[in-house]
Amino acid sequence: MKRHKIAVIAGDGIGPEVIEAAIPVLERAAAQHRFGLDLERLPYSADHYLKTKETLPDHAFRHLRDDVDAILLGALGDPRVPANEHARDILLGLRFRLDLYINFRPVQLLHPDLTPLRSDRPIDFVVFRENTEGVYLGRGHIDQDEYVAEDVNTTKGVERIIRAAFQWAQAHGKTRVTMSDKANAVPAHQVWQERFKRVAAEFPGIEAEHRYVDALALELVRDPARFQVIVTNNLFGDILSDLGAALVGGLGVAASANLHPGRAGLFEPVHGSAPPLAGKGVANPMAAVLTGALMFEQLGHREAARDLERAVQQTLAA
Ligand code: IPM
Ligand code: MN
Repeated sequence: MKRHKIAVIAGDGIGPEVIEAAIPVLERAAAQHRFGLDLERLPYSADHYLKTKETLPDHAFRHLRDDVDAILLGALGDPRVPANEHARDILLGLRFRLDLYINFRPVQLLHPDLTPLRSDRPIDFVVFRENTEGVYLGRGHIDQDEYVAEDVNTTKGVERIIRAAFQWAQAHGKTRVTMSDKANAVPAHQVWQERFKRVAAEFPGIEAEHRYVDALALELVRDPARFQVIVTNNLFGDILSDLGAALVGGLGVAASANLHPGRAGLFEPVHGSAPPLAGKGVANPMAAVLTGALMFEQLGHREAARDLERAVQQTLAA
């Protein structure tokens, strides 16, 4: 029987409860599809940081890089750590240092009652969020009266996320990719325009369209059904994926995968640690279960992934 090594970082707030609720579901699906999960629970979290001053030690980073098949993460963020430096080191640190440049965030309406919109058209698109550049790198400076954040866009970084979006579209029978930037106001976003044209030319069967991010936000509310694949930078992808979640039921059902093809991925629900909800038994673990489905898919167990999605869908319907 095939077994997979999964590192589990449950994290803060509602992270541990949604992860512990999801794990039996994942194990059941794995058993039914004849593969096994070797779970290794790692302590990195705000609690651990406050006790030890350690965020993600180097030996743990190397272990996650070299020895596991996937990382399953709950949520990070705790009001006792005001700037959330532990989350920066653990979550953003893993995204950057493992070079997980694809933040894959599906937005799918699993039950018609879940959308706040009046339309009853199906909503089913994916956000390809660039995950290793942009303002998230934290470059810039803060002194006196100037708080400067640099928005880093490299040709390599932009091109590879755009290509990933087109390749996925092609492999999944999609016919349109929408790229979103703010090139009308931010000169650095020219690189998105240039690379998008270049990569789109490699995929003549797929319509390549562009939307400025403000207009896209509007259109996503007005007519989400027309979108299939959206590719954008780190910050815009962060914002649009929450907007997308709101269209299909909220953060309780939004899953994500941080990927670099050929490497172990990092899988996390889109939601945060939600401190006011923690410990009350009210956090929705469906996003964590659907995140498990993305992990199974990546590990090569497509049927088990579909089973998890169906289980969530049937639970919602019931
Ligand atoms: C997300 C979260 C993170 C992000 C935070 C916790 C740093 O909002 O995964 O979308 O902004 O990437
Ligand atoms: Mn976010």
